[in-house]
Amino acid sequence: MTSHAIVFHVYGDPDVLQLHTFPVPEPSANQVLVRIRAAGVQPFDVQFRKGLMAERYPASFPQKIGNEFAGTVEKIGDEVTRFKSGDAVLGWVVLAAYAEHVLVSEATLTHKPPQMPWEEAGALTASGQTALTALDALQVGPEDVLLVHAAAGGVGSFAVQLAKARGARVIGTASPGNHAYLQSLGTEPVSHGEGLAERVLELAPQGVTASLVAVGNEEALRVSLKVTKNPERIRTLAFHPLARQLGIAWVGSERSLERLEQLVQFYEKGQLKVHIQEAFPLKDAAKAHRVMEKGHVRGKLVLLP
Ligand SMILES: NC(=O)c1ccc[n+]([C@@H]2O[C@H](COP(=O)([O-])OP(=O)(O)OC[C@H]3O[C@@H](n4cnc5c(N)ncnc54)[C@H](OP(=O)(O)O)[C@@H]3O)[C@@H](O)[C@H]2O)c1
Repeated sequence: MTSHAIVFHVYGDPDVLQLHTFPVPEPSANQVLVRIRAAGVQPFDVQFRKGLMAERYPASFPQKIGNEFAGTVEKIGDEVTRFKSGDAVLGWVVLAAYAEHVLVSEATLTHKPPQMPWEEAGALTASGQTALTALDALQVGPEDVLLVHAAAGGVGSFAVQLAKARGARVIGTASPGNHAYLQSLGTEPVSHGEGLAERVLELAPQGVTASLVAVGNEEALRVSLKVTKNPERIRTLAFHPLARQLGIAWVGSERSLERLEQLVQFYEKGQLKVHIQEAFPLKDAAKAHRVMEKGHVRGKLVLLP
């Protein structure tokens, strides 16, 4: 039996992403074979495809891509205990999710609630865990006024909702077209661009208590420094040379089953919504990357294998 996956043979523009045919793999003792129904697209994927991550994540061509997915368990290894064939699951993997099939350890999967649509389940597991990791690093709690830069993006949309669920007041930056969206997530919107610090201080005259930078630009870093009472409570998810210079710490995404299960619980309680801007057939991964490269996705993009 054969299966399809997106691969690329050289770093380059979106057109290097090609659909390839592979034999369906067999699970080893502790592995689960998942038939993927939806896979999220992340800025990381774009950076990886361009070769910008080559130092930390060198490609091995033909290279697969994609880190988050949801699907149906097709086959299990002899030692798998938590899943059976036919179960609906969501999970994460390293560089393999733009595909019809993926082999993963059962420790990276959890059960998908029946009411969670495939598209939403496929787009939650990596970006959602990034948002949770960042809030944990900032120790966001009910006393906080949190500023989130790029609040309407994939990570930002999850971060603002998870911070609200912790009882924080949340201010988020976005262009005016995304303000109603942010309000629907319980976030006070401010437009990025000149005068951002003043607009934030109009909303929070004493300054904010914590700040999450989810966009790689100078304005977000400088404004955070200006409006955050304690600069030690600023974290950036995006690499930017200025961050180190300004003493702003970078936060990386940590993955765990516990975090994934927390996200599912927030979703089930109605505290976490997943906005899908657009879904693409798997073969159109290049189109999805072109949209992502423009830098203005609201919520998430997904591929449907
Ligand atoms: N450290 C890690 O482990 C880790 C993990 C995941 C992601 N990241 C990084 O975190 C960042 C966010 O990821 P993501 O998935 O949320 O990206 P994304 O979905 O592509 O973010 C898109 C959002 O960025 C906003 N935006 C664009 N220009 C902006 C500006 N000048 N100021 C403020 N917002 C702006 C857009 O809002 P408007 O259209 O309203 O402008 C849009 O909603 C990326 O740099 C990514 O590489 C890091």
